[in-house]
Amino acid sequence: MSSLDRHGRPLRSLRVSVTDRCNLRCSYCLPEGSQVWLPKAGIASLEELATLVRAMTLLGTTKVRITGGEPLLRRDLTTLVRALAEIPTIEDLAMTTNAVFLPEIADRLRAAGLSRMTISIDTLQASRYAANTQRDSHGKLLAGIRAAEEAGFTPLKLNTVVMRGTNDDELAAILRFARDHGHQARFIEYMDVGGALNWDADLVVTRSEILQLLEKEFGPIESLATRGSAPANLFSLSDGTVFGVIASVSAPFCGGCDRARITADGKLFTCLYAADGLDLLSPLRAGATVAELATLIDGRWRERNDQGAQDRLEVADRGPSAQATELLAKPHLGMHTKGG
Ligand code: GTP
Ligand code: 5AD
Ligand code: SF4
Repeated sequence: MSSLDRHGRPLRSLRVSVTDRCNLRCSYCLPEGSQVWLPKAGIASLEELATLVRAMTLLGTTKVRITGGEPLLRRDLTTLVRALAEIPTIEDLAMTTNAVFLPEIADRLRAAGLSRMTISIDTLQASRYAANTQRDSHGKLLAGIRAAEEAGFTPLKLNTVVMRGTNDDELAAILRFARDHGHQARFIEYMDVGGALNWDADLVVTRSEILQLLEKEFGPIESLATRGSAPANLFSLSDGTVFGVIASVSAPFCGGCDRARITADGKLFTCLYAADGLDLLSPLRAGATVAELATLIDGRWRERNDQGAQDRLEVADRGPSAQATELLAKPHLGMHTKGG
C-alpha cells in the first residue's frame, strides 16, 4: 500500500523522536525556560516506537531517521536501532545527534545497524558554543565526531544553523573542517519554528548570501542536481568538495515533502510547523494491530494539506512562529519535540 496526500506527495521518510529531552539549550531551538517536557507516563517504549515504525513501512516509508531532543539521552537506544535495522523495507536508517555522548556509544550504534549519522556543529569555537548552548561541551562534541569517524560513520553530514552576527563569519572554516575530515557540511537557514523565540528575519542568512560568502573564499561554486524531496541543495567547490544548503526560509521545499514525524509520545505530525498530531499510542495500547495502525496513518496522510514553511512566506511582519506562553502550553510546538 502506498499513500498519497492531497498534493500527491508520498510518505517515504519518517523522523522518529525518541525523547524530547536535550542536554543542550541551543538558542535557536530550546532557549532556557521555553520548554515543558512531555509527561514521562505518556512516553512510548522503544518497542512501541518500533511498532509504529513498522506500521509506517506498510505505507511505503523506506527512510527512517532517529531524532530527539537529543536521541542519545534515551536509554537502551541500540535496541531500537537493532529492531529497525531488521525491518527489510527500511533502506536508510540514520540519526541526527549533537554528538556529546557519542564516545560511549558510537561503536554499538554501528554494530546495531545504524547506517548514517548527522551531527550538529554550529561553531568551531568553544566559547561561542558555550554561549549558544549554555553548556561547556565543545570538546565533547569534537570527541563525538572522532568517535563517529572511528566507528565507521564517515562521511558524516555536519549541520550548521547559520545566524547573522553569531557564526556567519565561520562558514569557510566549517567547510574546511568538513572537507579535511571527509564529511559533508550543510548550512541551514535559521528557521522561525518552535522554540526560535529570538528569530528575526534580519538574522537569517539566506542561501544566496551563504553562497556569496563561500565564493569569496573558495572561488566559483557549481550547483549540483538533488533528489526532489531532499531538504538540502548540493553544491561543489572547484576542488570537488560537495556541501549542502538547506533553504527552508528563503526557498521552502514543501512541494516535494515526503516526511512525517513521530514524537516520543507516539503522535504523528505531518509538518514541522503543525500544531497538532494524531495520537497513535492510545490505539496501540488499546490493542490495535500494525495493519490497523497503518490504516489510521493512511487516513491522516490522505488528508494532509500541510505546507508550513511555504505558508510562513505569506505572513506579514514575520516574527517567531510561537510565543513563549504558547510553547509552555503546547510542548508539541517545539522543534525539540518534533525532532528537527
Ligand atoms: P537526509 O536523510 O540525509 O537527507 O537528512 P535530512 O536533511 O532530512 O535530515 P537532517 O536531520 O539533517 O535535517 C536537516 C535540517 O533540515 C533540519 O534540522 C531542519 O532544519 C531542516 N528540515 C528537515 N526536515 C524538514 C522539513 O520537513 N521541513 C523543513 N522546513 N525543514 C526541515
Ligand atoms: N532553524 C533551523 N534549524 C533548526 N534546528 C533546530 N532549530 C532550528 C531552527 N530554528 C535543527 C538544527 C539541528 C537539528 C537538530 O534541528 O539543524 O541540527
Ligand atoms: Fe514538510 Fe512542513 Fe517542512 Fe514544508 S514545512 S517541508 S510541509 S515539514
